[in-house]
Amino acid sequence: VKLLQKYSKNRLIAGTQIIHLEHTRSTSSHLNELLQQKNITEGTVISAGEQTEGRGQMGNKWYSAAGKNLTFSFVLYPQYLMLREQFMLNMAISLAMHDFLKRLVSDCYIKWPNDIYISHKKIAGILVENSITGEQIRQSIAGIGFNVNETDFPPFLPNPTSLSLETGRRYDTEEVLEELLDFLDVRLLQLRSGKHSYLRNAYIEKLYRFEKPYLFEVNKETLEGVIKGVDEEGRLLVEIENSLRSFSFKEIKYLYEIWN
Ligand code: BTN
Repeated sequence: VKLLQKYSKNRLIAGTQIIHLEHTRSTSSHLNELLQQKNITEGTVISAGEQTEGRGQMGNKWYSAAGKNLTFSFVLYPQYLMLREQFMLNMAISLAMHDFLKRLVSDCYIKWPNDIYISHKKIAGILVENSITGEQIRQSIAGIGFNVNETDFPPFLPNPTSLSLETGRRYDTEEVLEELLDFLDVRLLQLRSGKHSYLRNAYIEKLYRFEKPYLFEVNKETLEGVIKGVDEEGRLLVEIENSLRSFSFKEIKYLYEIWN
């Protein structure tokens, strides 16, 4: 059911149009299906009060109770990015989430590649799905799950938190979405105008456990390393036994449990 369709006048890239659905399987899947049927303006947002099959990274599920939180996706056509620069999207979006949150809570970090953390707990997750044709990113669907008013998480989630738990207040999810889209628009405009190293440096500055030791799993082996940054293609740079190694998302796993 379409509840409201709002057209924002000022945003250029994210949130040019907002379509709200009471429920859908997944806002990212829904948007992808719409894109196969018709042309959709860049920045169109689909948000849902409830997702019945919310998707996370690495084939995980994204859980979010009906009506309490934000689950939304938007489409981008980033012709201004080369294929090998695709991680810049994850950086810009993570930074926008961080920009939004840092005014309300302290100890906000970006956990590589794009989880948003408050202290040692996850408050939001981002899923960027790029469709590639040849050497071009034809379309990107960015999905954000943001725990806003949740106070009671399912017990199997390892370390969740929400804006309400962190601040003791309740929020109007529609207002939160509008504000968040303003922050997204700013960062995505910076990206479109080519400020890559500026964005990358800002992202690295906010990295969870930057320059600190951490336990990782690499090839089923447990290793201690120090996070040194992220390279141009978005790989995590970790110093292990005096040598700097880089890892893609599939090659390294955080063993975060020890810090909780
Ligand atoms: C993660 O941390 O694993 C990423 C979670 C991304 C969840 C959002 S909710 C809106 C959009 N629709 C989905 O099915 N997933 C993303």
